[in-house]
Amino acid sequence: MDSSHIQFCLDKAKIDLHQLRNLLIIGAFWARQRKIEDLAIAIANSDPVVSVWDKQRLIGFARATSDCVYRAAIWDVVIDPEYRGVGLGRKLVETVVSHPRVNQVERVYLTTTHQQSFYERIGFKRNDTTTMILYNTNPLDSGSLLEEQTQEIFST
Ligand SMILES: CC(C)(COP(=O)(O)OP(=O)(O)OC[C@H]1O[C@@H](n2cnc3c(N)ncnc32)[C@H](O)[C@@H]1OP(=O)(O)O)[C@@H](O)C(=O)NCCC(=O)NCCS
Repeated sequence: MDSSHIQFCLDKAKIDLHQLRNLLIIGAFWARQRKIEDLAIAIANSDPVVSVWDKQRLIGFARATSDCVYRAAIWDVVIDPEYRGVGLGRKLVETVVSHPRVNQVERVYLTTTHQQSFYERIGFKRNDTTTMILYNTNPLDSGSLLEEQTQEIFST
């Protein structure tokens, strides 16, 4: 596939949440149940957010969170199955990793179930020993978080 016309975008405002939801359904097994309103919150609180476009079609996505000095984490890396195997996934991760909010932190983390070899090719090392997870049994209701954030935006 000729991918020379494919565009990478850092503008969060351009992301069509309905297309993103569909992309996650077809390409990201861990994110199939996500709701549009929750995705909006995740995007608002992530930086950089990278999207990949074939004209008006969203064909790739990744986002990171960072404290800009010690730690960053990369989340939700996905390329549309029809567009895999031509270097777009590598370029997507490299775009996140080279962003100023990520490229100067001490460590960049990500979790992956099956794609260790893909990330190793990009420079990540396996790290089986340090990860722990707290599964929140009572996560904040996204409706109230959204309301809180909307109020913050309008009160500043
Ligand atoms: C993982 C994923 C993003 C890779 O995207 P892609 O566009 O197919 O990857 P690329 O074509 O850029 O491949 C980059 C390199 O990784 C290699 N690679 C790609 N997928 C691989 C895999 N599953 N295992 C091993 N190597 C892989 C490619 O051969 C290529 O190697 P090279 O640069 O030495 O030639 C894509 O397969 C995907 O979206 N998978 C489903 C979602 C997912 O699992 N995301 C990661 C979860 S954290």
